[in-house]
Amino acid sequence: MKALVLCGGHGTRLRPITHTSAKQLVPIANKPVLFYGLEALRDAGVEDVGVVVGDTAEEVCRAVGDGSRFGLRVTYIRQEAPLGLAHAVLIARDYLGDDDFVLYLGDNFLLDGLTGVIDGFRRDRPDARLLLTPVADPGSFGVAELDADGRLTAVEEKPERPRSDLAIMGVYLFTPLVHEAVRSIKPDPRGELEITTAIRWMLERGTRVTSHIVHGYWKDTGRVEDMLECNRLVLESLETRIDGEVDDATEITGRVVIEAGAEVTGSRLVGPLIVGEGAVVRGSYLGPFTSIGPGCVIRDTEVEFSIVMERSSVLGVPRMRDSLLGKDVVITPAAGQPRAHRFVVGDHSRVRLG
Ligand code: TTP
Repeated sequence: MKALVLCGGHGTRLRPITHTSAKQLVPIANKPVLFYGLEALRDAGVEDVGVVVGDTAEEVCRAVGDGSRFGLRVTYIRQEAPLGLAHAVLIARDYLGDDDFVLYLGDNFLLDGLTGVIDGFRRDRPDARLLLTPVADPGSFGVAELDADGRLTAVEEKPERPRSDLAIMGVYLFTPLVHEAVRSIKPDPRGELEITTAIRWMLERGTRVTSHIVHGYWKDTGRVEDMLECNRLVLESLETRIDGEVDDATEITGRVVIEAGAEVTGSRLVGPLIVGEGAVVRGSYLGPFTSIGPGCVIRDTEVEFSIVMERSSVLGVPRMRDSLLGKDVVITPAAGQPRAHRFVVGDHSRVRLG
């Protein structure tokens, strides 16, 4: 059993972060979201992983390397443009050969691991298996329809009038039969080869496409709110570990991780939260569900429910929450009078002043 992990895509919903970075590498509790998926695949017994990469290939390759740090053998497959999930399967044909495989979307986050799901597929060996989960807004997803016996009868991509509340999650299990499907289908009006079209092709030909309903936590981390929610969830199960320096004037409540080389002085920390390697926190309040990346500087600032990525500085910000800051961001007070906000903000940034 191989895995095909998709790390290309446009990432439009996560701009401006995705102008310069891969969305699969946005950290959740200071670890890229992609790593949670790779670890889950490894834990389920997968050894060979093809990683589909696009414009952010270099960054993804740098982070994942040859996969040995995860106990995986990783092969990179270049997708010249994000032409759809089925297109990614199409170009991975040679790599996948005649093996069964898990198609895994690199920006998906699931809490319960993949062992049960992959074991179940190996045992039953249908032609394809989809994982489904009930959601409040099925119209934003691929949606599956089941008959009275729970058999999968139809799939639809982002339907206007969803016929069930069962969203198709970003984990699919396939036998090599899917290769014939992705070769046979036509692109949708936007020019993308949709995986739901390939699945419909399989259903129409009477092949055994089955589904498995998952009730555990699952998120497609395509939007900022999703990232913050995953961050909150992972921090929820954090255990205190203080490897960095914390002075006596700092007060800590709740579960807090301070990584080696980090320095916290004169601050109040209310966990769960994590402060990355080499970060400096001075005279600040760090509130719950906050991840401060490696090498960040937080001074005279109050921050909570936020992700601050590596090497960013936040100085003199009276209250910051529900925020996602990219790498090497600098926020400082404007010098002089009158007191005014001064911005140098990239394309597609969103700033909300309280
Ligand atoms: P999506 O989130 O569906 O698409 P996207 O990354 O283009 O994002 P947005 O909708 O915000 O513009 O993609 C799911 C995952 O699959 C994600 O990790 C990117 C990856 N992907 C590819 O690798 N190749 C592709 O052709 C597409 C469409 C997505």
